[in-house]
Amino acid sequence: MGATDTQVLKANDGKLSRHQLEAVVQIWKKGGLVAFPTETVYGLGANALDPKAVARIFAAKGRPSDNPLIVHVGDVSCMGYLVREFPGPARELAQRFWPGPLTIVLPTSAEVPAITRGGLDTVGIRIPDHPTALQLLKSCGLPIAAPSANTSGRPSPVTAQDVLEDLKGKIECVVDAGPTGIGLESTVVAVEADGIRVLRPGGVTVEELREVAPVQVDPGALAREPVTGPVRSPGMKYRHYAPQAPAVLVEGRSPENVARRVIELAVSFASQGACTGVMASEETAAQLQGLLQGEFDETLGRRIQIQTTGSRGNLAQIAANVYRCLREFDRLQVDTVVIEGVPLEGMGLAVANRLRKAAGYNVAEAD
Ligand code: TXA
Ligand code: MG
Repeated sequence: MGATDTQVLKANDGKLSRHQLEAVVQIWKKGGLVAFPTETVYGLGANALDPKAVARIFAAKGRPSDNPLIVHVGDVSCMGYLVREFPGPARELAQRFWPGPLTIVLPTSAEVPAITRGGLDTVGIRIPDHPTALQLLKSCGLPIAAPSANTSGRPSPVTAQDVLEDLKGKIECVVDAGPTGIGLESTVVAVEADGIRVLRPGGVTVEELREVAPVQVDPGALAREPVTGPVRSPGMKYRHYAPQAPAVLVEGRSPENVARRVIELAVSFASQGACTGVMASEETAAQLQGLLQGEFDETLGRRIQIQTTGSRGNLAQIAANVYRCLREFDRLQVDTVVIEGVPLEGMGLAVANRLRKAAGYNVAEAD
């Protein structure tokens, strides 16, 4: 692919001017690529009905061709022709959670090119809950295929700067509306005879889905080892969200034991001379800082780079900081990373799913 000048369009308070909107719509109509903010992460958008434009998404990201893209629309009335069926229970989910961080996998119509859906006979659809995204989707009237706007395998982008770090020169435009709110991707679900199946945990929690129908979490979504063989959602198979340095994730039932193990590992790596990134809650970070100030010489302290995710009980805050912290370790060029795990409840399920993948399933049990 030849180099492209990547234009940055800044949204003012989440809103684009008519002129800016027209510029993006023209790029999409001509088969170009525009990254834009959603409430979850930044997406890399192209006309979902144009196989050549969609092929450019796969090329720009270096994404495996069997991994389907989510199709974004601005309104439910714009999706009828994309699906063969839109059964009652799926409609109920759409009514309850759209616009919002929920992707519903439905039987595809022939209108959606095979490349967009990774060759599957289903298509994942969502309406994002972000003023700029909605403005763009409503103005262009096209269904927009958009994976996260990162190089395949890297942490997903939560700012326009993250997008540029990975894709500058490969895409026509980035719409910058500041950091995204949720910070982790949408929940991907399929609706089955016996209820809702969660293929990827995300911004809508299992607890919230359960208020609508019985929920099963696909075993692939909770895997603690690499997933092999046929899967319901191809994204499950790939190493994802990973920092460049090797990482270890500490999990366990007791937060105190997890904190103790995180600190032990960090001190042990740093004592062996490794520049060590630590991704931890405020509580664990304070404990580690206290220890470094009190007991050890300064060299050890300098070798430990702490990134704080949020207060231990505040899983939404932790979720919003996961990708920022992982990218920061790459910028700091640490040799190794130690990550504090979270409980598997509420947003914690999505956080744990991303952290396990980020650590390449290298999980240390704390108890
Ligand atoms: O929040 C999000 O979902 C963001 C924003 C930009 O909307 N998008 C996103 O897309 O995370 P991506 O491509 O990075 O992840 C899409 C996931 C993949 O794991 C893919 O395998 C799964 O959704 N997926 C998409 N279509 C599917 C389908 N028809 N059947 C099963 N899984 C599907
Ligand atoms: Mg992605």
